Amino acid sequence: METVVSGIRSTGNLHLGNYFGAINNFKKMQYEHNCFFFIADYHSLTTHPTPEDLHNNVKQVLIEYLAAGLDPDKATIYIQSDVPEVTELYLLLNMNAYKGELERCTSFKEKVHKQPDNINAGLLTYPVLMAADIIIHKATKVPVGKDQEQHLEMARTFANRFNRLYKTEYFPQPYAFNFSEELIKIPGLDGSTKMGKSENEGNAIFFADDPKVIEKKVMRAVSDQGPKEPNQEKPQAIQNLFNLMKATSKPETYNFFEEAYNNCQIRYGDMKKQLAKDIIEFTTPIRERINDIKNDNNYLQKVAKKGKEKAMDSASNTIKEVRSIIGFKHF
Ligand code: TRP
Repeated sequence: METVVSGIRSTGNLHLGNYFGAINNFKKMQYEHNCFFFIADYHSLTTHPTPEDLHNNVKQVLIEYLAAGLDPDKATIYIQSDVPEVTELYLLLNMNAYKGELERCTSFKEKVHKQPDNINAGLLTYPVLMAADIIIHKATKVPVGKDQEQHLEMARTFANRFNRLYKTEYFPQPYAFNFSEELIKIPGLDGSTKMGKSENEGNAIFFADDPKVIEKKVMRAVSDQGPKEPNQEKPQAIQNLFNLMKATSKPETYNFFEEAYNNCQIRYGDMKKQLAKDIIEFTTPIRERINDIKNDNNYLQKVAKKGKEKAMDSASNTIKEVRSIIGFKHF
């Protein structure tokens, strides 16, 4: 059993890409490991949200993760800012995080490019806060995508540096979680290879979309005139439709359309109709659960409180030991 930590960005509605990229794996992990899943609201301050947006985004993400199957009785699900020990560890790690290495971080360089008028110290030290998130629970595994690999490497650097500096083996090294199954990458509906909330309108299918909207989006997905020869290689947009179908439809359904494609008998209208039906079937329980809990403040409060308590237990223990290792002493 490993200790697993993952931070969830607190922005925007969740879509099918989030489900098959992360949530699906979180759901499995929570029954097999000691999991901490938190909503990274401190991190979101780097872009200066209004107080209302800050709260609403956290709430929305919490609701949707719960609706999609994160189980607060299994995993520790909490809000980052509910556990201020994280910020203390962040401060302590900052003393041994160097300007040069932080400036070389790819995500920092991207932000500098994207928001040249708001290059704040929080952005620069984003990887330090992320390291604190992870090692506060002495995690060994972090389920993140390729885009977070450099951050994870920096977390190892900071953990290592602490150990070396204080001649201890206190912090274990956190590594990326290797999923047993291949990561399923969900394509967009606009012919692009990635489903994402910031892509074109109609690219993503959100959990909160109602059936009519889903049907419209799928029927409008990019396709083409159809294959001219048997067993032809599929163009990107068509491959995308098949990939979506593989993730959400029954294997028989997938095979049926695959064969139709290979025989040049495929009708994309029929395929899309079926795909929309299967996606609606898949997302309906999630949407219903979102609607059940979104106004149930009592329940959300209970979940957040329980998560906070469990996370603080673990975090305060680490901070106590770290303070002692560093040499803080009570009079
Ligand atoms: N940086 C991560 C992202 O953008 C979010 C995150 C913050 C995180 N702290 C973390 C992920 C700790 C894993 C562990 O997706």
